[in-house]
Amino acid sequence: MAYGLLAGKTGILTGALDEHSIAWKVAERCHAEGARFILTNAPVALRMGGIQQLAERTGAQLIPADATNLDDLGKLYDAAKEQFGQIDFILHSIGMSPNVRKGRAYTDLSYEFLQKTYDISAISFHKMMQLAYQRDLIKEWGSVVALSYIAAQRVFAKYSDMTEAKALLESFARTFGYHYGKAKHVRVNTISQSPTKTTAGSGVAGFDTMYDFAEKMSPLGNATAEDCANLVVFLFSDLSRRLTMQNFYSDGGFSSMGISEEVLEAIAPKA
Ligand SMILES: NC(=O)c1ccc[n+]([C@@H]2O[C@H](COP(=O)([O-])OP(=O)(O)OC[C@H]3O[C@@H](n4cnc5c(N)ncnc54)[C@H](O)[C@@H]3O)[C@@H](O)[C@H]2O)c1
Repeated sequence: MAYGLLAGKTGILTGALDEHSIAWKVAERCHAEGARFILTNAPVALRMGGIQQLAERTGAQLIPADATNLDDLGKLYDAAKEQFGQIDFILHSIGMSPNVRKGRAYTDLSYEFLQKTYDISAISFHKMMQLAYQRDLIKEWGSVVALSYIAAQRVFAKYSDMTEAKALLESFARTFGYHYGKAKHVRVNTISQSPTKTTAGSGVAGFDTMYDFAEKMSPLGNATAEDCANLVVFLFSDLSRRLTMQNFYSDGGFSSMGISEEVLEAIAPKA
C-alpha cells in the first residue's frame, strides 16, 4: 500500500548492496511513496552489479562514493545539487568492522582496524552531515536517518567493536541533530533495528542465534527490513516534522523485554 507520503521529495540513499539490504527495501518503499533519489555505495560494492537493477527500477542515478572520503562525498553532493537543487532526505545505512570480519576477539582488537570501524560505521555519518550542512544541501524540515543496533545500549557478547561504533553513531545523531535543528530546522534520528538477515548482519559471529533469541524475546517478532523501511519513510515524511535527536526502536518490542516465556522454556532444564 502506498500513500504518496514522499511525493515531490528528493534525497540520497546509501548502503543498498543486494535485495537483502535494509537500504534496498528503503529505496523500494521511497520509490513507491513518490520520492526521487540518488543511490550510492562504495565503488567496490557498485562493481558487484545488483544495485544497477535497483537503480533502473527506481529511476535513480547511481553514484559511487566511499563514505569515509570527503572528495567522494563532495562529488556525490555536487551530483545531487545538479539533479535536485536542495534535497529532503539522506539515509546512512553503512556498517563494517574489520575486527569482526577477521574474527578478532573484543579483548584482542586491532586498533588500526578499530579506527576503520569507527571511520566507516560512525564518522562517515558525521562527515555526510557536516558536508551537507556546510553546503546547505538539505531543505528546511529535511530529515537525516542512520541505522543502529541496541548493542549501543546493552552488551551483546559477539558484537565486538561495532558496539562502540553504534554508540558513537547515535551520539552524532543527537549532537548534530541539535546543531542542524537550531540552524536549519533539519531533523536527525537513528533507527535501532532488529537482527536482520543481510550481508552486514550475517557477518557478526553467532548472528543466527542472536536472530532466534530476539525473535523469541520480542512479542511481535523481529522487525523485518520492510518494517524498518516503513519507519524510514515515516521519518522522511512531513508526518514526523518535529521528531529529532531520537533513537527509534524497530524491534517488535525487544528493547522493553526482560525475559519471555519462549526464552524461559528454551533454557529450562529438561525433565
Ligand atoms: N542486519 C542487521 O542485523 C542490522 C541490525 C541493526 C542495524 N543494522 C545496520 O543497518 C545498516 C545497513 O546494513 P545491512 O544490514 O542492510 O547490511 P548490508 O551489508 O546490506 O549494508 C551495509 C552497506 O554498507 C556499505 N558500505 C561499507 N563500507 C562502505 C563505505 N566505506 N562507503 C560506503 N558504503 C559502505 C556496504 O557496501 C553495504 O551496502 C548498517 O549500519 C548496519 O549496522 C543492521
